[in-house]
Amino acid sequence: MKQLHKKIDLSVDIGGLKMRNPVMAASGTFGYGEEYEEHVPIDHLGALITKGISLKPHSGNPPPRLVETTGGMLNAIGLQNIGVKALIKEKIPNLMKFGTPIIVNVFGSTLREYGEVARILDGIDAIKGLEVNISCPNIKRGGISFGTDPRQVFKVVSKIRKASALPIMVKLSPNVTDITTIARSAEEAGADVLSLINTLTGMAVDVDNRIPKLGNITGGLSGPAIKPIALRMVWEVYNKVNIPIVGIGGIFNTYDALEFIIVGASAIQIGTAHFINPSVAMEVINGLENYLRDNHIGTIQDLVGSLETPTFSIL
Ligand SMILES: Cc1cc2nc3c(=O)[nH]c(=O)nc-3n(C[C@H](O)[C@H](O)[C@H](O)COP(=O)(O)O)c2cc1C
Repeated sequence: MKQLHKKIDLSVDIGGLKMRNPVMAASGTFGYGEEYEEHVPIDHLGALITKGISLKPHSGNPPPRLVETTGGMLNAIGLQNIGVKALIKEKIPNLMKFGTPIIVNVFGSTLREYGEVARILDGIDAIKGLEVNISCPNIKRGGISFGTDPRQVFKVVSKIRKASALPIMVKLSPNVTDITTIARSAEEAGADVLSLINTLTGMAVDVDNRIPKLGNITGGLSGPAIKPIALRMVWEVYNKVNIPIVGIGGIFNTYDALEFIIVGASAIQIGTAHFINPSVAMEVINGLENYLRDNHIGTIQDLVGSLETPTFSIL
């Protein structure tokens, strides 16, 4: 006899961002969507996050920009992008046809620039949210990253909050001593959602020539190598804030995604894995559905933060 399966509902609503499932394509690893059109049913994704966008176009860093490392890769693309006006004119119309929520990843090198990009994107129907990349150097403060200073984070997020009515997801940098302090600043300034983590700063050396392997000398480490660190940070932040969290870092399969959800992520993003397996997001969406069904769990929300930790007693 044919078995009837109850339809599992994977839909999520995080900070005003409604998605059919909790699986998103991470910024910078999915281009502007069109690069993957032939390989991925984009309309099945929970959301698509664009490459980071700034007020003016950026040409990025000198090559080489990518290096493979053990369990991951280093990139120093340098936030190359076409600028916000070209994004709206040339890319958004094509992306709209999928009906998948588009989240624009934004950055700036001054507070004013962050605010200006957010203002330009506000009110564009197809755009359902902003992801704010705070791992950028502040040129007015000697190039120190906005994302490492809680006061700067507060200022950036407040600026964007004033400029836009869209749901705001603040993407946290792991290159800090205590990520929970930064998370709380973003929450206090009005962030609706937090996403973490961005890449960890690293480097690799060509020993034959004794030169750095990357044109920029250092770059951002991503992939399976960073997953345990990302998980730890999601768990720490989950215990300190009241807004939803999106987990990112080395997610290559359903079990990786589940780990993030169990430690507190309401949704997840897949990045580097797309370069190896363009179908990875579809596999994870199906895998999550199967896991919920097999374990008789009604919704993804029931799984969020379900980690059971041992209680220690000192006798
Ligand atoms: C080639 C490349 C480009 C990236 N570009 C951006 C970007 O423009 N903005 C941003 O916020 N994150 C960017 N990231 C970071 C990813 O979105 C993600 O946070 C990080 O790679 C960790 O996830 P993963 O291990 O699944 O790749 C980029 C990552 C890679 C590998």
